[in-house]
Amino acid sequence: MIDFQELAEKYKTPLYVYDFEYMKQQYQMLKSAFKARKSLLAYAVKANSNLSVIQQFASLGGGADCVSIGEVRRALLAGIEPYKIIFSGVGKQDDEITEAISSDILYINAESMAELERIELLARNMNKPCRISVRVNPNIDPKTHPYISTGLSANKFGVDINTAKRMYIFAKNSSYLEPVGIHFHIGSQLTDLEPITEAAIIVADLVRSLHVIDIDIKFFDAGGGLGVVYDQENTISPHDYAQAVLSALKGLDVTVVCEPGRFLTANAGYFVTKVLYEKVNEQKRFIIVDGAMNDLLRPSLYGAFHMVSTVGGKGEKSRADVVGPVCESGDFLAKDCMLPPLKHNQLLVIHSAGAYGFGMGSNYNTRPRSAEVAVQGDVNWLIRRRETFEDLIVLEKDYLRS
Ligand code: LLP
Repeated sequence: MIDFQELAEKYKTPLYVYDFEYMKQQYQMLKSAFKARKSLLAYAVKANSNLSVIQQFASLGGGADCVSIGEVRRALLAGIEPYKIIFSGVGKQDDEITEAISSDILYINAESMAELERIELLARNMNKPCRISVRVNPNIDPKTHPYISTGLSANKFGVDINTAKRMYIFAKNSSYLEPVGIHFHIGSQLTDLEPITEAAIIVADLVRSLHVIDIDIKFFDAGGGLGVVYDQENTISPHDYAQAVLSALKGLDVTVVCEPGRFLTANAGYFVTKVLYEKVNEQKRFIIVDGAMNDLLRPSLYGAFHMVSTVGGKGEKSRADVVGPVCESGDFLAKDCMLPPLKHNQLLVIHSAGAYGFGMGSNYNTRPRSAEVAVQGDVNWLIRRRETFEDLIVLEKDYLRS
């Protein structure tokens, strides 16, 4: 049990707390689900890019799925071996591509023909061949929130099967491109196995047809997307997920890659905030806390549900909205939540905040971002200090006109 009271006294609030033991268990559970094959779990750094979090997965043997050169640098700094790093993203810039090539990462995941041609040109200029994969968009409805579905042809990600084939042929014909991987990622927070199964079959068939024309794919990358429980969702078990991918691969000699983000970190994380005030407008009860949408954007952006619990607190519960101090009506952490009477300074814990929490935060309303803390068994330690006002103005203050 994490002692949130003690952590809040030691590190102040608002505060992100991550259970490193839980992350390790999730990693090992997924890794062992793939044990029938060679596999690489490339942690999707965007889910929680704190260096110490990445380091935790590095120490377990994990790789990294990165979507900017900044994420690649973070992964390297945190100790992920270059040959376990994948660089994806729909719009890679020249300097990002050249840096990725010189860093000798596992492969660059190309998201369009134009991008592949650019990678070829840059590799040629550097006189250094580049390993690539192609992101295939299998045009499958992942049945998740529209903002986080990516595998339909209406989405900006990847290319259709025919374009993918042309890209592989282009790569094969260039001495500066080495096509080693194939990739798809149909969406995030997936709770239905069928779309993953379908996508894996479509993409595995493409691997077979590439084999016929002498293009040998070594890495079959099924992306991320495994859903987690925020409320009462029926999620996919790691075993069933792995089986869905593995059974599509019969007869193929490939290493399976997957890019879990949320599955590894979401339920390892808690956002701890304290009650400032309580007020009732007409009939509506509001709990005003020191955390806000700039700290945890998911409720405001997606209407996402995050469970709220109280530290202490007895008495009859009633419905309340948990809101922050930011000047937006959309600034809430929870709506219509059953809460007991609360005192000034009492703590609320927002659950499932370890993925897409801190990373999507901002300094809106000139609010310094929270500290981040790791917990493992009985020990806890700071992994990012709280920002100060000085941190927020440091890039501007020298430009004031005298
Ligand atoms: N691989 C690729 C290519 C991705 O685009 C993503 C997530 C992942 C892996 C990791 O997906 P995960 O295993 O975490 O589902 N901000 C949204 C989620 C955006 C996901 C973007 N891509 C949220 O808070 O729900």
